[in-house]
Amino acid sequence: MDKVPEHVAIIMDGNGRWAKARGMPRTYGHTEGAKRVADVTRAAGELGIKYVTVYAFSTENWSRAEEEVGALMKLFRGYLKTCTRDADENNMRIRIIGDRTRLDKDIQEAMSKVEAHTASYNRVTLTLAINYGGRDELTRAVKRLAGDVRNGALSEEDITSETISSYLDAPDIPDPDLMIRTCGEQRISNFLLWQLAYTELYFTDVAWPDFGAEELRRAVEAYGNRDRRFGGVKQ
Ligand code: IPE
Ligand code: IPE
Ligand code: MG
Repeated sequence: MDKVPEHVAIIMDGNGRWAKARGMPRTYGHTEGAKRVADVTRAAGELGIKYVTVYAFSTENWSRAEEEVGALMKLFRGYLKTCTRDADENNMRIRIIGDRTRLDKDIQEAMSKVEAHTASYNRVTLTLAINYGGRDELTRAVKRLAGDVRNGALSEEDITSETISSYLDAPDIPDPDLMIRTCGEQRISNFLLWQLAYTELYFTDVAWPDFGAEELRRAVEAYGNRDRRFGGVKQ
């Protein structure tokens, strides 16, 4: 493939609908969907994609039924326990963005452990967005930035858009080149609001549990055929 995105961000949507269509509970869709993360990240590495960011739980998802939220937290626990093996085998670094403070202590600890364990891996970086919201990330960034202005570490005149980027959750990761959303919905749902400013958007009707290597290849191919522009200037 000639033009491969460096960073692909994915809104993994449609787990519930996928399960319902099979007469199964929504949580079954989440279990199957969680399995696709490893498949898709492996396929991304093979295509030469360096960064994959997946939206696993939004700040708005707390409003779902308690049982569903509980099942998702259980899935994160399980995933964080087993993902190091996959990371070891695939030289995969794992990062987490979002507000961790609202998560159970053991999940926060597992997150730090996985990040430390995979910190030197560099073939592909998988970033999990958990209790993540673009507005929440910007709000937390603004709070820290305001604190630095107040304590004199930063002067108001020196604030540029790069300064703002540097206060976000993963400032060293480049902005996504391609954003994929599965299962037909065409909205951003509070994902990476700042970072998606010039990202190419790709929507597919395929539900997340059915999304695999072939679907990713199709999205990357579509991306390769786009004329990227920035301010009207071809890139
Ligand atoms: C995406 O699937 C997974 C999460 C948001 C955690 P959904 O659970 O949103 O599935 P649908 O959109 O209701 O089908
Ligand atoms: C977005 O999906 C969040 C995640 C994929 C984690 P939702 O299914 O929660 O979004 P809306 O409510 O359809 O916008
Ligand atoms: Mg959904």
